[in-house]
Amino acid sequence: MTYGDYLRIREMLELQQPQSDPPHHDELLFIVIHQAYELWFKLMLHELDVAMTCMVERKVLRAHHFMRRVTRVQDLLLHQIHVLETMSPQEFAEFRDILRPASGFQSLQFREIEFLAGLRDEAYMNFFAQRPEMQQGLRDYGSRKTLWEGFLGVLTHRFPGVGHEEALELLYRNYEANVDLYMLAESLVDFDALLAQWRYHHVMVVSRIIGELPGTGGSEGVAYLKTTLERRAFPMLWQVRSRLGDGVAGWSASAPAPRREDPPGGGCPLGH
Ligand code: HEM
Repeated sequence: MTYGDYLRIREMLELQQPQSDPPHHDELLFIVIHQAYELWFKLMLHELDVAMTCMVERKVLRAHHFMRRVTRVQDLLLHQIHVLETMSPQEFAEFRDILRPASGFQSLQFREIEFLAGLRDEAYMNFFAQRPEMQQGLRDYGSRKTLWEGFLGVLTHRFPGVGHEEALELLYRNYEANVDLYMLAESLVDFDALLAQWRYHHVMVVSRIIGELPGTGGSEGVAYLKTTLERRAFPMLWQVRSRLGDGVAGWSASAPAPRREDPPGGGCPLGH
């Protein structure tokens, strides 16, 4: 066994096949960056799957462990998109036409990540109409428990007899007694935030390269992408923050936060 045999490097390096003729210099960058994303998406799905199993088995810290790996990957993916800023609009225009109608719309794994998290929009099935096996793959993800449902299962187990919103508030107010679940909840917030940040970085790069042109996948391009920026997989985890202002030392969400006295030197500052 050698490095190359184990990692199948030869086969992997044959997978970058520019379509432009003669090959445009920047097409290799375009292919490599998308392939690299898809490889990381593969790992993300692998880790999200096991995080979900851990939630079902109530192994909360293990679920957090795998969510943390996912968010580290997302951190990388956030910055990776900027490599494309070294490709000028003129250069991309020279080979963009050959891509049509291929588009990020058809990234099955991206949609699977969204579906697994809980962002399920059946309309995206249409982009896989020509590929029934892909449509089926997405439908399979659509029929599985979402990460959010997995999390709610653990939450209800920890705080029985109350509604989800109340249970979440109890968790955030009593986080020191529920550190494992609190850390898991915050890793889901990281996941959601990083996904939203990626969308923003992507749309910035897209406007820089194609301006207001329509997308190769048939959308309005930047105008469409901007409509996705407010999507959240776990809205309740964002809402709970506003509930925490009420009733803590007279501080409410609508009133300005009280000025704190200077903390005494040393010691671990309290969370609230
Ligand atoms: C030159 C670089 C890029 C341009 C000009 C571009 C442009 C676009 C446009 C216009 C759309 C909207 C759909 C359409 O009509 O085609 C889109 C969607 C998308 N792109 Fe890109 N993109 C670029 C790079 C990337 C990269 C590197 C990735 C990494 C995987 C990516 C992933 C996606 C995904 C997942 C969507 C679907 C987003 C959603 O529906 O929420 N794109 N892209």
